[in-house]
Amino acid sequence: MCGIVGYVGRRQAYGILIKGLHRLEYRGYDSAGVALINKAGNLNIYKAKGKVSELEAFAADKDITGTIGIAHTRWATHGEPSTINAHPHYSESEQLAIIHNGIIENYAVLKQGLEQEGYTFKSDTDTEVLVQLIEYTQLNQGTDTKTAVQLALQQVVGAYAIAVLDKRHPDTIVAARKGSPLVVGIGDDEFFLASDATPIVEYTDRVIYIEDEEVVTLRAKSKEQVAQTQMKKEQDSESLIDITTINNVQKTPEIKRLEMSLSQLEKCGYPHFMLKEIYEQPRTLADSMRGRINMQQDNIALSGFIDNKDRFLNAKRIIITACGTSWHAGLIAMYAIEEFAQIPVEVEYSSEFRYRKPVINKDDVVVAISQSGETADTLAAIQLAKAKGAFIFSICNVVGASIPRLSDSGCYTHVGPEIGVASTKAFTAQVIALTMLALCIGKAKKTISNEKYLHIVRELGQIPNKMSLVLEQDRKLAEFAKTFTYAQNFIYLGRGYNYPVAMEGALKLKEISYIHAEGYPAAEMKHGPIALISQEMPVVVVAPHCGTYEKVVSNIQEIKARKGRVIAIVSEGDEVVKNIADYTIEVPSTEECLTPLLTVVPLQLLAYHIAVVKGCDVDQPRNLAKSVTVE
Ligand code: F6R
Repeated sequence: MCGIVGYVGRRQAYGILIKGLHRLEYRGYDSAGVALINKAGNLNIYKAKGKVSELEAFAADKDITGTIGIAHTRWATHGEPSTINAHPHYSESEQLAIIHNGIIENYAVLKQGLEQEGYTFKSDTDTEVLVQLIEYTQLNQGTDTKTAVQLALQQVVGAYAIAVLDKRHPDTIVAARKGSPLVVGIGDDEFFLASDATPIVEYTDRVIYIEDEEVVTLRAKSKEQVAQTQMKKEQDSESLIDITTINNVQKTPEIKRLEMSLSQLEKCGYPHFMLKEIYEQPRTLADSMRGRINMQQDNIALSGFIDNKDRFLNAKRIIITACGTSWHAGLIAMYAIEEFAQIPVEVEYSSEFRYRKPVINKDDVVVAISQSGETADTLAAIQLAKAKGAFIFSICNVVGASIPRLSDSGCYTHVGPEIGVASTKAFTAQVIALTMLALCIGKAKKTISNEKYLHIVRELGQIPNKMSLVLEQDRKLAEFAKTFTYAQNFIYLGRGYNYPVAMEGALKLKEISYIHAEGYPAAEMKHGPIALISQEMPVVVVAPHCGTYEKVVSNIQEIKARKGRVIAIVSEGDEVVKNIADYTIEVPSTEECLTPLLTVVPLQLLAYHIAVVKGCDVDQPRNLAKSVTVE
């Protein structure tokens, strides 16, 4: 989704803004732009359709000076991707410039009113309506920029994170958020603004997360203030930040420490972030378990569970809500929670759940899963469930994001920033966190035998090493990939814990290689998809040695009888499937509930290599956004 960067201080802003836009490229975008106020007080805007590099080429011979600026990568919602629709947008008088993430839902009504007042519009965007509304308010009510922003936002229905420059105040950025994330970084006599912390991390680790309906004013120091060195830095910076609500209630800035390092944002020798993140998984899984599993005592301690044990023990039902890959992790958790904790589980797409008037009771526990912690539908789903009195537990990767902040309790996955748009390490960490949660509830409820609990805890400890062994088969998968680039369609099959893995494998392939793929429960094949099987159709079957293994073997026979080409993911030492399938990848044996952590890795690698051979943009696939902050 769109990315916001802002800077005000004493350095030249352009380089910082462009670098920030590059850091945000992973979020997905189709155009980019920058606005700067130069020394002479001119407000210059440069925009380009396409990549940030195209913006750089366009701006190369222009005046890019100025110590204050805002910049944006746009992911089109209202109006096609084009230079005109790219942000920033000027107001009518060109005194103001705005960048915006989100959607102004009532933009048509607001636009009509402004047109009647003589305002004209150059773009098709909802954003331009907002900047005109701010200017109109400013002129009509004779207010300063901050007040005009507050008053304009009071009229807005929808979601936004905005930043506004006013050429009459060349030392000030006014920004605000509702539903779209916004972070302020506090440097030495300078401020950074961004839609997530990745553009900020190399300058400062002191950040403020702006809350919904807050308006923040960031002011650079004047020369006189810089000269006054007796003031303490922290007090000094705070005095130049003003935070209010859109109704002008004063707020106190709360400064947090950023837990992110610059090296986490680099590729470290890998050709793509996705491959780096696939390879990081043995370590990230160990990180997710560190401090939570005590291998000496064979015990799991999840503080978010321990502090709220009764809510889980009294739960009549657990509702899991998420989108995309996180939803697949939720589906795996359904098998684990029902098996070990014997609590009925419903797994809901957040986008459906939030609108279908679901029955939610006070004794329900809602588990929200989100890598980014900002997915608009998941956020809305938990807001709905919270309003009905349910207890909200979230599994999230990005520390301090909106979803964990709105939750009653939860568990961070701690895998570091995930930059590849296709989620990999976040998925396996979500599965680990959810499995630990299922085991904690089961142990507390005594619905899992001690023997089984101990066995799974010990097996969890083995997973990072076993996953490293799976990664050793990367070369083999790269070879397979060359064979399958011809395919227009793929089918992925799995059963039980590995049915969600089949769906996840299909999603990975679709996302990055643009090959159509469907994930199905293996036994459902006979009810329709079998009609698609021919020698043209690759079928990936996830068939580790689990409860339904024999049945899946029969499915493979059925595919082969119809000349389908089978790539099978099997447990080590499996000779049966090896003799039937065209290609096999072996994964180490483990407890059934943990097999997804191993079987998903070859599917991630297969999708990756097919996309690379096809020449696709693996880390930034077309049309996709990393953090889906609009519904
Ligand atoms: C797929 C993928 C998406 C996300 C989905 C939810 O590779 O990344 O399907 O899983 O958009 O995002 P989060 O987990 O951030 O809520």
